[in-house]
Amino acid sequence: MSQIEVSPTLLQGREQQLATITDTLVNQGYVVVPGFLSLDESRELAEECLRLREQGEFHRAGVGRGEMLEVRPEIRSDEIRWLQRNDCGPLQADYIDLMAAYQQILNRELFLGLVEFECFCAVYPPGSFYQRHIDQFRGVEQRTVTAITYLNEQWQECDGGQLRIFLNEETGETLEVLPEAGTFVTFLSANYWHEVLPAQRDRLSITGWFKTRPIGDVFPLQ
Ligand code: OGA
Ligand code: MN
Repeated sequence: MSQIEVSPTLLQGREQQLATITDTLVNQGYVVVPGFLSLDESRELAEECLRLREQGEFHRAGVGRGEMLEVRPEIRSDEIRWLQRNDCGPLQADYIDLMAAYQQILNRELFLGLVEFECFCAVYPPGSFYQRHIDQFRGVEQRTVTAITYLNEQWQECDGGQLRIFLNEETGETLEVLPEAGTFVTFLSANYWHEVLPAQRDRLSITGWFKTRPIGDVFPLQ
């Protein structure tokens, strides 16, 4: 009789890795981790995202928030599908659990008071991009840490779609990250302007934010 294989979750044995990422985030403000997910994990996550896309679950991403949310293709032209723990694929649910573990470590090490993780799958069809921006909405500073995992096998420089992070506004220093399968990028949301250069082929990712409690929750605004 063959043994029943219990598939390991994404979370297994990752405490140390998440702690190291957190340390680097504290010291440097941003971290890029190639191979954060294995090729198999990335492939499975990509398949779950593409399945949702085939089911017509994606929509054009907007800019702004609440009643100010607007589709502005001249600013960003990706398509997204928000993921909820109870309404997504099994590996996507594991990914959300993995981010919950990261959130705990961030709170323990940085006292950030993060209370929520929100994320979506994004696809940038050929020609699409996201202009230079910062991941916080004007006057609302809930998004505190950004976390992105890319799901594209064999991404080449000529495929475009780099995430360009503006590291230093004075010197003009930038960092460009290829959206290669399994690469994880995380940074302090308020500290870095960034953009997505035009992609030449479908570019898939899971993009998310750790959020603090809205100010109005604690001290109701009158
Ligand atoms: C975003 C964003 C970057 C990327 O969705 O806010 O900046 O590399 N994404 O996908
Ligand atoms: Mn962004």
